[in-house]
Amino acid sequence: MLNLEVVGQGATTKIYRDGDMAIKLYLNTTSDVADNEAANQQFAYNKGLPVPKVYGVRKLDNNTVALDMEYIQCQPLMKQRMDKEERNNAIRTLVMLQCEVHKVHANGFPKLTDRLVWKIKMTQHLDEPLKSSLLSLIDQLDNNSENLCHGDFHPLNILYDGSKHWIIDWVDACAGNPLADACRTYLIFKQHITRLAGTYLRTFCKEAKAKQGDVLAWLPVVAAARLDENMDDKSRSWLLGLVQEWYHSQNGDVK
Ligand SMILES: Nc1ncnc2c1ncn2[C@@H]1O[C@H](COP(=O)(O)OP(=O)(O)OP(=O)(O)O)[C@@H](O)[C@H]1O
Ligand SMILES: [Mg+2]
Repeated sequence: MLNLEVVGQGATTKIYRDGDMAIKLYLNTTSDVADNEAANQQFAYNKGLPVPKVYGVRKLDNNTVALDMEYIQCQPLMKQRMDKEERNNAIRTLVMLQCEVHKVHANGFPKLTDRLVWKIKMTQHLDEPLKSSLLSLIDQLDNNSENLCHGDFHPLNILYDGSKHWIIDWVDACAGNPLADACRTYLIFKQHITRLAGTYLRTFCKEAKAKQGDVLAWLPVVAAARLDENMDDKSRSWLLGLVQEWYHSQNGDVK
């Protein structure tokens, strides 16, 4: 791989280009992670969603596996300097793509709510009473939807080749309620592109014919489930504050 161009990098991945092929290398992991992403991506491809073609998974050594897929000559969906119209168009594109994903029935995929429950149970950042309130909230919100949810839908996971948009990074795909998936996207906007979070939420709700309050109802759960992800301390405290604020408002606590 050493002589290949690096075209991207994640927390535990490195993406190379080899001619018309992109190679997503998973470092320090077992091959089931790559197999899972390949299967999810292939499923999305078979459903006609705009995703790079999957070529296969290779085991390189005990700790490294590679997912080979179509290389997309791309530019980011959102650039640093965009005028208002360009930004609104980019968000609209993102929302349209997300809603296309949600139209697919994903029977047999892991359940989004099971994943949220597991992450909340596992985190060391919350105490038991708070966890138990969050688990009750999941029970209340869960309506057993089996829509395909990407699980990490945000601008960096959309590639633009000059004429077409592509959805990448299918590792977290699952079956669930589109509003929960949208809530995670909203939270990521809030954390990283704050001033566009409201535009995203309004655009999504208009397209999905959803109420903003129904998306935001998932916020404490989605924020709590994100606490163990790779981020700086300031971002984690912000997430924690959001969850605690919800908890105290539930219990009628006075600050
Ligand atoms: N098929 C592809 N063609 C061209 N570039 C790609 C392709 N797949 C990934 N990339 C590049 O690599 C970057 C990271 O890819 P991806 O999101 O799949 O990795 P990741 O490990 O999940 O990263 P993160 O943890 O940051 O989400 C993308 O933003 C893109 O720039
Ligand atoms: Mg990614």
